[in-house]
Amino acid sequence: MSLTVAIDGPAAAGKGTIARAVAAHFGFAHLDTGLLYRAVGKRTLEGKDALEAAETLQPEHYADAEALRSPDVAQAASVVAAMPEIRTALVNFQRAFARRQGGAVLDGRDIGTVICPDAEAKLFVTASDAVRAERRHKELVGKGHDVSLDEVSADLSERDRRDSARATAPMTAAGDAVQLDTSLMTIEEAVQAAIDTVARAAQKQE
Ligand code: CDP
Repeated sequence: MSLTVAIDGPAAAGKGTIARAVAAHFGFAHLDTGLLYRAVGKRTLEGKDALEAAETLQPEHYADAEALRSPDVAQAASVVAAMPEIRTALVNFQRAFARRQGGAVLDGRDIGTVICPDAEAKLFVTASDAVRAERRHKELVGKGHDVSLDEVSADLSERDRRDSARATAPMTAAGDAVQLDTSLMTIEEAVQAAIDTVARAAQKQE
């Protein structure tokens, strides 16, 4: 089976966990496109020019996902992600990944709308603001970050506002995306709902 799965949604809605599980279930490759923007953002924090950082991005810059998970890197990512030339620099790599043999799952903000408008399966994953903040807070504290729930909440709403308001590739659900509100779901339920959606799309292809 070879198809493209696009998973978009706001910060900390569960896209990453769902995307990894869907990819493992179907044997597809997975790309967390947020890591690309986080890697560019981190390089700007280190003093590099944003466009140069995007144009010279190498796999080693986003190989260590954990090093890119901090709130300050997330903020820097959302700042560079609003720059049209940065998005352009990252398009070809994402599109090539999406159409690789054997199937691919990409998660981000504009996968179903801009990167792969023709993806066979599209999901827009959401959760309430409070649930997303709690999940991300727990995750960050579990990884040793010293952040309060209020700080996490402020980071998420600031990024969501910037990601939705930008002129180029704003975060929005594709018209044909299946909406998945995970607020009241366990992760197992959310993953199962996503797998069911992809399985239906795969059946249509056969
Ligand atoms: O994990 P979380 O949902 O908090 O964020 P992420 O997916 O790692 O993305 C970090 C930032 O990168 C987002 O706030 C967006 O500004 C940007 N991003 C984007 O603009 N387009 C994408 N396809 C993926 C991420």
